[in-house]
This record gives sequence, C-alpha cells and structure tokens, in this order.
Amino acid sequence: MSRSRPLTVVQITDPHLGAPSEGMYGVTIDTGATLARVLADIRARCPQADLMLATGDLAERPVPATYAQLRKALSGLPMPVHCLPGNHDEPQVMEEALADAPGIDCARVITREDWVVVMLDSTIPGHAGGALDADELEFLEETLSRHPARNALICLHHPVVAVGSRWMDRMKLADAGALFQITDRHTQVRGLLFGHIHQDFEAVRKGVRLIGTPSTCLQFLPESDDFALDALPPAWRHLTLHPDGRIDTQVIYVDEPSRAMHSVSR
Ligand SMILES: [Fe+2]
Repeated sequence: MSRSRPLTVVQITDPHLGAPSEGMYGVTIDTGATLARVLADIRARCPQADLMLATGDLAERPVPATYAQLRKALSGLPMPVHCLPGNHDEPQVMEEALADAPGIDCARVITREDWVVVMLDSTIPGHAGGALDADELEFLEETLSRHPARNALICLHHPVVAVGSRWMDRMKLADAGALFQITDRHTQVRGLLFGHIHQDFEAVRKGVRLIGTPSTCLQFLPESDDFALDALPPAWRHLTLHPDGRIDTQVIYVDEPSRAMHSVSR
C-alpha cells in the first residue's frame, strides 16, 4: 500500500490576456480582471494546492508585454505554476518572459508524490488546430518510459477527441491515434488534461480520463455546430490525484453575476 498522500492540483486555462479593447469573440471583456477573479477564488478556496497547471492560450496578443502581465498576475501564488502554450501563444516569447520568475515556469516534466505530470506543446505555428510532432511524441514516450512506477497525467492545450461542437472539433488534436498508441502502451497513464474548448468536458477512453476545462474568461456553448458563447462565468478546475491513480475532479465557476458583456453579432 502506498504511503503517499493525494496531490491537489488546480488548472487554469485560456485566460487570453491582452485581448484588444474592441473585444474578443464579439464581446468586450477585461480578461485580466477575469483571471484575477479566478486566482482570487483559488487563493480563497484552495491555498494548499500542490501545483497549478496553466494549459495555454495564456495570451490573446502574444507579445512580451502580455506575458509580463501574465507573470505579474501569477506571481506570489501559494503554489508553483507550470505553463504550456496554446495556439494563441508564442511559445518562445512566453518562455523568455517567464524565465527566472519565482514559482512560475514552463517545466515539461513535474514529479510529485506518486505522479508524473507531462506538459506537451500541441501548437502548430500559424494554425488554430493542434498536433504533436515527432519530437513531442518521442519526448512523451521517453518520459513515460523513465517513470513506469508513477501515475501519469498528460497535459496539452488541444482536445484529444471531438467534444461535439462542429466548429471547435475542426481544431482538435490531429492524429490523436499516435498519442493513443503511446498511452495504450504505458498503462500508468491515468488522464489527459486540456483546454482550448472553453467548456467542461469529460470522457473516458480505455480507462484513461479525458478532461477539458472552461476558460478563465468566456465560455463556448457546448454541442453547437457554429461559434456561440455560453453565459457561464469564468472557471477553473480542481483535481485530486490519488496515490492509486484515481482522479477526482470538478469545475469551479466563479460567481460573477455582474459580468459586463456586450454581445455583438458575429
Ligand atoms: Fe486555443
């Protein structure tokens, strides 16, 4: 029997910092303010979390000033923060801006207690959709081979399966079969955690949890053929990673009744 304790993990995703003042997705929204509300909620409800995972689209406008804003927002949290890029990010600009930030990094492998968390880059320069290139797949294979006795949680920005929204599913991870070949071989993989879809999603594939999380800013309407916003408030995800490989998780929506939204047609 394992003597380890469960790990408490929080996930934030798709904050889209640096959204233009004229709006984003047809809505005028202060994405810095919504991220601040989410982080305040995490501080209040879960200050003892072991780590925070930020799963991409951290910037809407991926310039150094936006990542400086991100760095400032994430500074001083009570848990270390690990970031990976989404399609709106510029990975190199992001890494440079976060370099030497106390408690914030772009680590690719995090080992804590009985778990290994693997952070993948599914971005394709110039494209909204995602893919894992040969280097990323090899990195995953090697990492899982190095940690056969640890439960594994694999994080990436793009959804690994269709979530039931036609417009969104065009951007899901291409050739997920290559990823699943690896996860099928390494039976310690317990979950795949992603963002991008701006909505709550859960499925199970061959015993592996597939988990997608709403954004810290705007949410998309589930099961919509075309782009449509949902009225749900900003959110984050709480995960308990148990020593035996079980994952308990729930989405926490930040109660924000006075959110200023000015929808325009699109
Ligand atoms: Fe995205």
